[in-house]
Amino acid sequence: MSTGVRAVPLARPLLDEREEELVLEVLRSGRLSLGPTIDRFEELLAERIGAPYVAAVSSGTAGLHLLAQIAGLGPGDEAITSPISFAASANCFIFEGAVPVFADVDSRTLNLDPSALEAAITPRTKAVVAVDMFGYPCELDEIRAVCSRHGLALIQDAAESLGAEYKARQVGSHGPSGVFGFYPNKQLATGEGGVVFTHSEREWQLVRSLRNQGRAYEGGTWFHHVRLGFNYRWTDVQAAIGIGQLEKLDRLLELRAAAAARYRRLLEGVEVELLCEDDADHRRSWFVYVVALPGGSDRARVMAELRAQGIGTAEYVPCVHLQPYMREAYGFREGMCPVAEDFASRSLALPFYPQLEAEDQERVVDVLRAAL
Ligand SMILES: Cc1ncc(COP(=O)(O)O)c(C=O)c1O
Repeated sequence: MSTGVRAVPLARPLLDEREEELVLEVLRSGRLSLGPTIDRFEELLAERIGAPYVAAVSSGTAGLHLLAQIAGLGPGDEAITSPISFAASANCFIFEGAVPVFADVDSRTLNLDPSALEAAITPRTKAVVAVDMFGYPCELDEIRAVCSRHGLALIQDAAESLGAEYKARQVGSHGPSGVFGFYPNKQLATGEGGVVFTHSEREWQLVRSLRNQGRAYEGGTWFHHVRLGFNYRWTDVQAAIGIGQLEKLDRLLELRAAAAARYRRLLEGVEVELLCEDDADHRRSWFVYVVALPGGSDRARVMAELRAQGIGTAEYVPCVHLQPYMREAYGFREGMCPVAEDFASRSLALPFYPQLEAEDQERVVDVLRAAL
């Protein structure tokens, strides 16, 4: 580094000898896919989140896609999701031919605003993908009520919220089906991977079949396909990493929460807006550390100054409806979701991971303060 200071990446998983040991066991067993390590991970995660059924898949996106297909989405249908999310929250139903509709977010939580959601419903609406953005649980009860009033399927995109609590219960335990994701920046990091959690045995069986080329969900021979399926299988090597991560998940979440609390203290007096605090109904699982700069700031320059000091940062996150392919395909433009667009124009992520050191956080905040 030209500056001679230590680089601070945006994200980094915390892996140790336990994951190495578990991965070695799988390598030595020769069971690299469809093996017992995946079953074990699924059982442990189901127990942890309080969902009766968990099925591992190759990514959070794959899980969302299967849930969109199981919801019966197809051409001519509309599905509503949040503009403050990752593209996969909408792509999952576009894959099935449905048209994306974006409802604005609540300015405090940055999750779908239930009244904006209800206002976006048309006779063609068939499903809602509700996102727990930045690890903060969405307004599940209100969204569920809207969905049942209008006969809509509900999918919970919990890719970012493993370990969060809504109304004092773990995300995943409430009833709607959803996904978690395990990309390396996530609370539980396995490289790639995800799970579908569900409270429906039928749906669980379908996911197990669809992820495995449409083979019967149990029994059946290798070349016997009962439906059109995908190769959305995970591997036992990734499941081994997942078990190691799950064993220390409480510590990982505590370290993340402690790093977030340190940032909050350090940022006192710095002119940025922070993500909302927990309240009686919502407990965030800390995933990324995002701040919003004051209106009119030159975000590109602030980010360039952070990067020049070896500090990882990113615009977090651009609105999904304003991505080039969305504008092109659906004619979406600025002004459709003003709350989301205002936040997305000002937000940036700071380095954030469990083993982030206090002195690095102090330097990040000093550079940010100076840049502002
Ligand atoms: C909100 C949200 N949804 C879906 C996904 C997709 O997960 P994956 O990267 O595992 O496909 C992500 C991952 O970044 C996400 O943050």
